[in-house]
Amino acid sequence: MTRVALAFSGGLDTTVCVPLLEEEYGYDEVIGVTVDVGQPKSEFAEAEETAEALGLEHYVVDARAEFAALCLEAVRANATYQGYPLGTALARPIIAAKILEVAAEHDCEGLAHGCTGKGNDQLRFEAVWRDSDMEVIAPVRELALTREWEKEYAAEKDLPVQGGNEGDWSIDTNLWSRAVEGNELEEPGYVPGEEIYEWTSEPTGETEFVEIGFEEGYPVSLDVLGSDASESQAGASASDAGEALDPVELIETLNEVAGAHGVGRSDVMEDRMLGLKVRENYEHPAATTLLSAHEALEALVLTQEERSFKKLIDQQWAEKAYEGLIDAPLVTALEGFIDKTQSRVTGTVTIKFEGGQARAVGRESEYAAYSASAASFDTESVGDIAQEDATGVAKYHGFQRRLAKGAIDKLADDESGSPELATDGGEDEA
Ligand code: ARG
Repeated sequence: MTRVALAFSGGLDTTVCVPLLEEEYGYDEVIGVTVDVGQPKSEFAEAEETAEALGLEHYVVDARAEFAALCLEAVRANATYQGYPLGTALARPIIAAKILEVAAEHDCEGLAHGCTGKGNDQLRFEAVWRDSDMEVIAPVRELALTREWEKEYAAEKDLPVQGGNEGDWSIDTNLWSRAVEGNELEEPGYVPGEEIYEWTSEPTGETEFVEIGFEEGYPVSLDVLGSDASESQAGASASDAGEALDPVELIETLNEVAGAHGVGRSDVMEDRMLGLKVRENYEHPAATTLLSAHEALEALVLTQEERSFKKLIDQQWAEKAYEGLIDAPLVTALEGFIDKTQSRVTGTVTIKFEGGQARAVGRESEYAAYSASAASFDTESVGDIAQEDATGVAKYHGFQRRLAKGAIDKLADDESGSPELATDGGEDEA
């Protein structure tokens, strides 16, 4: 008896994969695995119903806590790829690993996904699966299936395919982001209406403040302060008043609060791993809020050179995450640097939601690399450093540039001057 585990969502692609794995790949039995990384409840209902109608043995694995924890690692790395906070990309390796576990428990010989040959997800799934010695199967890609063919085949076989997820666009939702692509959105000039958004409302004129508490770069608490800035100031000067939330609750709450202000929409011409450009629209209110709060706290705490070097580290981290290679040795090494810098990224940030933006409007940390008295216009000296000590520095500042400018002027004189002199000289002699 041969068994294959299929990454199953209940959508058209994975539904047609079920009979195809038996007919075309000769497996005796298919088991479906759905991994919960915070998709909407309706998607699980759809997967359950479809599995039941197919007579498919179906498992649901809850990976929300693990996924949320990884999203917070992404915050420490300020991770975005071309403006996209990597929701789908971060989820895939976790989903793939969970499916592999279920497959091993059920003595499967094969692992299958319903990804096409055009996207990133096939690469992310297979990077994890090819570490095992199970057969890796991608029916949609290998049999070159089109949506049209799948629909006909489903009708012919009387497969249970409903609307739901298979509406106008291709949508991928998890805790960290909701991605929408396909249909009219494939035209880069097409301006989408409000109908593509589900997590974010069109920004109203209203404002709201929240205070986010960080410990070693991890967001750990949230205080929703309402629409009054003075309340937020009162909150900040009183002790750490924020409510401690676990990562899943924190992300879910912020998606709602920030989403109501239209925070975290992006429209990206995304360069995929295979080289294709694809237009993708995203919603990610919590991610946008946490990333901007985290950057604001780093700006207070880290030195200028730590900040500029960390940009390079963060960029590499995000690229590996985009590739689904979050367990690459490079990432472990980058995280060594990130860990060191984050040990001081503890404090609170006040964020103002307004006009679709999440803007840091206040930050505090006991580890600030900042001295109010040093920066102030009102103080004469800091410790034994007096204002006039800057005079010497100011004299030196731009010294090489001054020398170089002299050299550039001399060169210009030499070039314009010498041929003329030669001509003049020649005429004089004649
Ligand atoms: N382009 C993104 C990525 O590769 C998200 C893909 C989401 N899928 C979708 N059907 N919209 O990470």
